[in-house]
Amino acid sequence: MACDNPPATSDIVAEPVGHGRKLTKPKLLIVEDDEDIRTQMKWALANDYEVLLAGDRAAAVAAFTAERPIVTLLDLGLPPRPNDPEEGLAALSALLAMDPLAKVIVVSGQGDKQNALRAVGAGAYDFLCKPVDMDELRLVLQRCVYVAELEQEYRAMQESPRAEVFEDMLGVSPPMQAVFNFIRKVAPTSAPVLILGESGTGKEMVAQALHRRSLQESGPFVAISCNTIPEDLLESELFGHEKGSFTGAHAQRKGHIETAAGGTLFLDEIGELPLAVQVKLLRFLQEKTFQRVGGRQEIQSDARVVAATNINLQEAVSKGTFREDLYFRLAVVVVKVPPLRERGDDISLVAKEFLHRYAVEHGKSRLTFAPDALRAISLHRWPGNVRELQNRAQRAVIMAEGKRVTASDLELAETLSAVAPQTLKEARESVEREMVQDALRRHRGSITSAALELGISRPTLYELMEKLGIARE
Ligand SMILES: Nc1ncnc2c1ncn2[C@@H]1O[C@H](COP(=O)(O)OP(=O)(O)OP(=O)(O)O)[C@@H](O)[C@H]1O
Ligand SMILES: [Mg+2]
Repeated sequence: MACDNPPATSDIVAEPVGHGRKLTKPKLLIVEDDEDIRTQMKWALANDYEVLLAGDRAAAVAAFTAERPIVTLLDLGLPPRPNDPEEGLAALSALLAMDPLAKVIVVSGQGDKQNALRAVGAGAYDFLCKPVDMDELRLVLQRCVYVAELEQEYRAMQESPRAEVFEDMLGVSPPMQAVFNFIRKVAPTSAPVLILGESGTGKEMVAQALHRRSLQESGPFVAISCNTIPEDLLESELFGHEKGSFTGAHAQRKGHIETAAGGTLFLDEIGELPLAVQVKLLRFLQEKTFQRVGGRQEIQSDARVVAATNINLQEAVSKGTFREDLYFRLAVVVVKVPPLRERGDDISLVAKEFLHRYAVEHGKSRLTFAPDALRAISLHRWPGNVRELQNRAQRAVIMAEGKRVTASDLELAETLSAVAPQTLKEARESVEREMVQDALRRHRGSITSAALELGISRPTLYELMEKLGIARE
């Protein structure tokens, strides 16, 4: 390309310029051998970009490797052959070899559109001709950064196998991801499923997810809680009854197994099912047919049975309160929903989500957790699991007076006083951890975007992650 000015120094000048908010600005690498143009561009763009400068190919490659700028502005005529585009084109392919999605805008001499087009053909994002019009440059850069950021987000999203929400269930922790995978696999089969888990862990949500992802998702989801219905009514609730089959049976009535035909029957608290009803349920599971109470006719139902319990069914079998044959029939496919205290990151994720939901509901949408609340949340054992967290969050939103929800709004102040006070270092690290994890989650693991949001550089974020032991997803 035509370059009228003599080559300037070819040493690395990858110096960040700008002031004030520079670390939160996108990084722009300017590869230009003409010192005047470099200085002019630097000052024109330093308000909006963290500007890095390089005078030749080697310096450009070094700066790109160290800083990973979001956009590179590349002069095609570089030393040692400033009048020839080959050095610039070689620099372009070196950058693209390091990152095929690198955004490089080439700057060519006037009347050298041919080579600019060659560069675009080789993967450059766009080109500009000298003398560069600053307004045009700003516009092209703006659009380019926007596209690059979108691409990065998309890339991070594609690479991230983790999702925060699955069928309305929040969870990024490995044990919850295992539950979600289980549902994906098992839902489209017709096998009965047994869901185990402590109270409030989300067993009913798992049952609903199994239904929504089943082949019968357009059919009904019928839930029955075996511990809330009196024993003598349970059989007729489940199987229905014929008119006059018992006192009060004024008309024929369909049971839940029948109404759940074409869908899912969710038997909650299956451990409470009376022995007499267990026999009948076992028969239904084996034959897919049953008789209404007081009836003789064999009725068919293709309802898929999903059962849940928070008791140890094997223990119930050994005590004789639960039939072994029914247990084996139900326990072909078993999923254990982990207690909240074993879900690591999920605890604060779920807490924040509930805080947000209730805050919006109560017209206090700016509410956030105070650091002591977050600490209490991570220390508490959550015996009531997700339901307990939900209830505490709801109450806290109502009770909170300022902009922050405190540990005492959550009624968890005692949890804090029971443990040794934090040192300043621990407190700082826990807030840092919280913020870094949050930013990474929000940006689906994209380091660039998370760093931008946190107002720190990418290398600083990497250092912080290493110090805090946060793995990159
Ligand atoms: N992963 C989750 N994400 C968001 N909300 C959840 C999650 N798990 C449970 N919940 C919420 O927590 C509450 C309790 O869930 P659910 O009723 O499914 O639990 P359960 O195990 O059936 O409880 P129980 O044993 O007491 O019947 C519900 O309000 C549910 O919406
Ligand atoms: Mg339940």
